[in-house]
Amino acid sequence: AQKRLSVPDIRARKGGRPIVALTAYNALTARFVDRHADIVLVGDSVAMVEHGLPSTLGATMEMMILHGRAVAKSTQRALVVVDMPFGSYEGSPKDAFRNASRLLAETGCSAVKLEGGQPMAETVAFLATRGVPVLAHVGLTPQAVMTLGGFRTQGRDRSDWGRLQEDARSVAEAGAFGVVLEGVVEPLAAEITGQIAVPTIGIGASAQCDGQILVLEDMLGFNDRVPRFVQRFGDLGKDMDAAISAYAEAVADRRFPGEANVYQPRKEDG
Ligand code: KIV
Ligand code: NA
Repeated sequence: AQKRLSVPDIRARKGGRPIVALTAYNALTARFVDRHADIVLVGDSVAMVEHGLPSTLGATMEMMILHGRAVAKSTQRALVVVDMPFGSYEGSPKDAFRNASRLLAETGCSAVKLEGGQPMAETVAFLATRGVPVLAHVGLTPQAVMTLGGFRTQGRDRSDWGRLQEDARSVAEAGAFGVVLEGVVEPLAAEITGQIAVPTIGIGASAQCDGQILVLEDMLGFNDRVPRFVQRFGDLGKDMDAAISAYAEAVADRRFPGEANVYQPRKEDG
């Protein structure tokens, strides 16, 4: 059996071969991603992508546990990280531990991810010293959408750089094994990568980060309009539409099922 990448394996990639990370929420896509990625993230973006909700705020513990279990079961090599949903960790380090330990125990995932910088450092330390590996997430943090008033690239104004650097530094020093840097201007992402001892994983950040992550469905081309930081590496939305349309026409024309797809009774032998 394939040996799964561990938290120290990922941690050791600081400054080395870039870490390949993608999201997956279910068995089907996790099996594909596991063949190529070092980290599979069961992101709370599942609330939007798979459940049709308007933001990640609607993600729940039940949701993360069901999807986390499906992904952990269907992967062998990648480190599987599951997002802590909004409301499950911000109240206190104890609440965070209760929920994070459930996420690990009930899914088989190896680590959790939570959003927030300096204000979450105490919680990161509380978890990391109690057997819960934490991937931190700073910069543009989607669970803060109501506070931020939308999704804005962070660090366009150089006066914000000190706070953003302090966010990354404090969670790294608190014991996070990596830091997702989302939606930060390129030179700041590069600078932070040089300043902290653990890998940075960029999304809308910089090629200088120690790794990259994207939402799988975004990079596969399921959405016609994607933000600047996404590259569409495929056109699966178009392929899926063509296949479903061909099926619908074949059914309407009675071309499906064909001879090859139907069963016949045994031949009577005289
Ligand atoms: O939920 C998610 O998909 C994420 C990544 C894109 C970093 O947090
Ligand atoms: Na997320």
